[in-house]
Amino acid sequence: MIGKKIHRLSSVGSTNDLARTLIASGCQNGEVIISDIQTAGRGRGAKEWVSPSGGLWFSIILFPSNLNADKLQFLSLIVGLVMSKVIEEKTGLCCAIRWPNDLYLKEKKVSGVLIESKLRLNSVEWLIIGIGLNLNVDKNLLPEGAGSIKEELKTEIEKESIFSALLQEMEKAYIDFQENSLKFLPEIRERCLSLGRSVRFEINSQRLIGEAIDIDEKGRLVVEAQGKTYHLLWDAELL
Ligand code: BTN
Repeated sequence: MIGKKIHRLSSVGSTNDLARTLIASGCQNGEVIISDIQTAGRGRGAKEWVSPSGGLWFSIILFPSNLNADKLQFLSLIVGLVMSKVIEEKTGLCCAIRWPNDLYLKEKKVSGVLIESKLRLNSVEWLIIGIGLNLNVDKNLLPEGAGSIKEELKTEIEKESIFSALLQEMEKAYIDFQENSLKFLPEIRERCLSLGRSVRFEINSQRLIGEAIDIDEKGRLVVEAQGKTYHLLWDAELL
């Protein structure tokens, strides 16, 4: 179902924005948009997402039949897990997950996920999973703090094989997730580099530093700071 119809473009503002347009004009569950470059790629927290040629920039459109909004938190973690596993399998590189779903190679961010949704009451009417992976991107085109798979491997990886493996594995994980999301938790914890580390975060307009000690059964990051325990939601940007 995921990727049964794929819109392939050489350039677009943002694949997530085009996904919204497709949803508004009527499209099917599982349609995917992929573009060689994005001229207005968006990251979380309204940040720009630099999307030059060589990267993998795509969005998946889903119309879940019965998905409670509370479960989006966990789904966002599973997307990071699938990314991490597929990259490892295809390249041999071990990508750690920075909660909730950023992927890091040796302290450099190589991938990010932007999930957007529309809720009706407490259930998800539609969902866009926007994925960016700095695959064959040259170092000089990357922003500060970012890395790419090509930089690490010193060679290019065939984009299409990673893309199709990601769609396949996303589909499997999405089906499993609807049946039992908790089965993913041990693997997510294992690959999460945030655990046991100090994290900076903002809560109720207050900036705090604490230690990330766990990911709970709702996918929230459990942080201890100043003698208190906080359960951070996926939209709580780590600073
Ligand atoms: C982040 O880590 O801030 C999330 C980055 C998400 C980037 C992807 S690239 C494909 C899709 N289209 C966008 O405009 N953003 C997402």
